Amino acid sequence: MRIYKTKNYDEMSKKAASIIFSQVVLKPESVLGLATGSSPIGTYKQLIEWYKKGDIDFSQVVSCNLDEYKGLEKSNDQSYDYFMHHNFFDHINIKPENINIPNGMEADGEKECARYEAVINSLGGVDLQLLGIGHNGHIGFNEPEETFPKETHCVNLTKSTIDANARFFASEEDVPKQAYTMGIKTIMKAKKILIIASGKDKAEIIKKAFFGPITPFVPASILQLHNDVTLVGDEEALSLI
Ligand code: F6R
Repeated sequence: MRIYKTKNYDEMSKKAASIIFSQVVLKPESVLGLATGSSPIGTYKQLIEWYKKGDIDFSQVVSCNLDEYKGLEKSNDQSYDYFMHHNFFDHINIKPENINIPNGMEADGEKECARYEAVINSLGGVDLQLLGIGHNGHIGFNEPEETFPKETHCVNLTKSTIDANARFFASEEDVPKQAYTMGIKTIMKAKKILIIASGKDKAEIIKKAFFGPITPFVPASILQLHNDVTLVGDEEALSLI
């Protein structure tokens, strides 16, 4: 595992963006696995900046996002589809037909998860998977549990996640209760993994995930078994390692 320590969030974002930049330059038709959340926003911003300067071309890139809420329309500003368009896709020249995100509006979970897993396999797998990490070690929506969930699957969101999301919705009933997510096996099949973390609140879990025992109770700890992982974190997030 390679670890890059940066001064702050902006430097972390620039470093992560430069790794994605190199990937796309070396293989213009790369399959990029992408994440939502606060961690990658700066990375996407930097890539957009380089794109606008004419330094990078996304016309052959294919993307596969990690996860999506079940039951949210793409147009809902809380959907991950909306997030990705707003923060990245609408500002670069990726082809709409090359964008893959689980379809949260497919009510048949088994059908949608099988479809999504097949899409990733048909692309020959993900070349570079960008990940953030949750405070409990989750990656994608793979939460701590007894075993590592494998392929793309439907998860029931925990009460604490539902409560935390409630502020973004008009009422508690509107808060999604389930999500579709790549599984741990899907993530581990990526040829390269790039995981980013920023802030003091991530320090404890970074130490546990990368220097503690490998256990499904810290889902990101499985990444210790992957042979091409790059962790880019700022000083605060890496302060305990
Ligand atoms: C996002 C995702 C999540 C986040 C994680 C960290 O698609 O799957 O696992 O990466 O919750 O979120 P932030 O970056 O907001 O701290």
